[in-house]
Amino acid sequence: AATTRINALIARMTIEEKAGQLSCFNDEIRPVGAVFNPVVNAQGAAAQLADIRAGRIGMLFNGYGAQGAIRAQEAALASRLRIPLLFAADLIHGCRTIFPIPLGEAAAFDGDLSRRVARAVAVEARAAGIHWTFAPVVDVARDQRWGRVAEGAGEDVALNVALAVARVRGFQGAGLSGADALAATPKHFAGYAEVRGGMEYGAVDMSDAQLREVVLPPFAAAFRAGAAATMAAFTAFNGIPATANRHLLTDILREDLGFTGVCVSDYDADRELIAHGVAADEADAARLAILAGIDMSMQSGLFQRHLPALVASGAVPIAVVDRAVARVLALKDAFGLFDDPFRGLRQPAAPPPTAPPPTALAREAATRSIVLLRNEGAVLPLAPATRVALIGPFGADRTHLNGPWSFAGRAEDGVDLATAIRPLVVEPGSGIHHPLPGGIDRAVAAARAADVVLLAIGEGADMSGEGNSRVAITVPAAQQALAEAVAATGKPLVILLRHGRALALEGAVRDAPAILATWFLGAQTGHAVADILFGRAEPSGRLPVSFPFATGQQPWSYDRPATGRPAPDDAPLAPGRAHWRDAPDRALFPFGAGLSYTRFALDRVRVPATIPYGAPVPVSVRVRNIGPRPGLACIRLDIHDRVASRIRPVWQMKRWLRLSLAPRAARHVTFTLTPDDLALITPTGHPSVEPGAFDIRLSEGMEATAFTSFTVTPHDAPILEING
Ligand code: IFM
Repeated sequence: AATTRINALIARMTIEEKAGQLSCFNDEIRPVGAVFNPVVNAQGAAAQLADIRAGRIGMLFNGYGAQGAIRAQEAALASRLRIPLLFAADLIHGCRTIFPIPLGEAAAFDGDLSRRVARAVAVEARAAGIHWTFAPVVDVARDQRWGRVAEGAGEDVALNVALAVARVRGFQGAGLSGADALAATPKHFAGYAEVRGGMEYGAVDMSDAQLREVVLPPFAAAFRAGAAATMAAFTAFNGIPATANRHLLTDILREDLGFTGVCVSDYDADRELIAHGVAADEADAARLAILAGIDMSMQSGLFQRHLPALVASGAVPIAVVDRAVARVLALKDAFGLFDDPFRGLRQPAAPPPTAPPPTALAREAATRSIVLLRNEGAVLPLAPATRVALIGPFGADRTHLNGPWSFAGRAEDGVDLATAIRPLVVEPGSGIHHPLPGGIDRAVAAARAADVVLLAIGEGADMSGEGNSRVAITVPAAQQALAEAVAATGKPLVILLRHGRALALEGAVRDAPAILATWFLGAQTGHAVADILFGRAEPSGRLPVSFPFATGQQPWSYDRPATGRPAPDDAPLAPGRAHWRDAPDRALFPFGAGLSYTRFALDRVRVPATIPYGAPVPVSVRVRNIGPRPGLACIRLDIHDRVASRIRPVWQMKRWLRLSLAPRAARHVTFTLTPDDLALITPTGHPSVEPGAFDIRLSEGMEATAFTSFTVTPHDAPILEING
């Protein structure tokens, strides 16, 4: 019935109305935050409402508020065909309530937490007149110089797959017809994170095997979970910008991955085909984009302005336009907007009765995101009476709690560190980039007066996110100088890092007895950090990205391919072996690192010595809490394929499990690997399992490890090929 209704509508549409449905613009009717010039804004809003009434706009994005949405929707219903609008927004880690950046939340290694957070975002979004989020970011990110590392799930494929699925399910809920559903947009298709030198908007070149083993799995999983949309990357992929890349957007996206939803361009990216040097002019750019597979053009207005003439001249077949229009209208129909264009606007959906209020969930997510990287001499947890000096530019600051992409959040809703920790003294000591006059002297005096120094340093909110690549991923020099001076007092030093990526720590920061990765934790930052510092909550985060020894190690990931000359464990800087002169081929704190206030041990590892070809592999291990406190273990299983037709990662995580254990408690855990987990893309370009020996590493955080291996027996039948 839906298809019939949509086809009937398309049959009545002019080419101008079709081009309008395929065009989206920044929302000028309900801007967020301070309006720079009310007169100009009012003119912009009036012009946009007129365009909507003329049927020239299909979707508005990055506006906020139900009242403005109702106004815009009323204008859409005054258009000739009364086609309702969609409203989208970049809700990357929150709508009104800001949660930790996705990279921070990934440290919880907990799909259910990510699903619950995404659900809470969806409920707030629909009440604010937003149907569609340009999230989740599912770009597997191995280069920490790239600013958008902050927005995704880090460097590992399996974690990205799991959190992509969790976030899509959370956003979309029980289905788009629900009054609190938010359409998800796994992005950016594809390879966006692999830009040369980590430089945003740079070019990407990669092998087909890398594309299929690393880049595509999170997209494939998100699409299987029902994601309604995707967004083409800004970047060029193997020589052709993604926005004009038919192989990427049609052969791979539609045919290989079976995606049937809406593919939107990135902001102005179709017009940028001219600067890329693949389009002669705007009309040519619009032609290339729609023929490649872009359904909706963002912000440039190119489809609106050029599709009618392109169709009239025969440069673009009308069938291509109609197919894109059908996808956009199907999305509107999935929301039930043809039946009730104001669905969720006039009667906002109430939060589900069982869900905690978003503030409690934001605090839970923030607490779970914190990673304890070092705790020498059990500096932490702090006794309640400890006299604390809180030093650094992020101590009493609320503007840098939320991080990038938090346009609807408000700084004044945030809880800063000083408010929650109640230190003896608070002293910034330095600006984020520049020294403060007398700042270091005051900081040193504050440190001397205290039992323990908490040093809150790192990156400002504007140092990660789109367009914020860095050549050096270090703590800015002014703050490093502050750290050196404070450390020289000899007071116990606890580093509270603020950051949107893994950092290369140096000097006194790297050598401090206690270090916590606290990312951008959002509105509940202060409470979450205080709960961990004073032991009211157990630290349980594990790094989703490796902290290198130096920036020059980028790109880097724990699952790097094996080398012919690995450096020995006991001599990681051995001449003639894989290393840098000044850093080993290792991370300072690798993916998965993270301590608890208790300790865990692993033993009794069991796996059958031989596995018949095609059979599942059960691996079991005993986990014990051998420390004095309860804790949330993260048991992880990695594999290494010993002999394969293509080089394999040294280790690759395939499974993990979060396990809450009381002191001295023990549990047996069983993981079951499937043939998919053992497969590789062979030189023929197909995924398959190659018989032979596989090593297994079981680990918990940085500490407990256990090893075993098994052999997959040769097969008589043809090699097992894995589906996608
Ligand atoms: O959704 C974003 C995208 O990720 C980067 N460029 C702008 C878009 C819309 O705000």
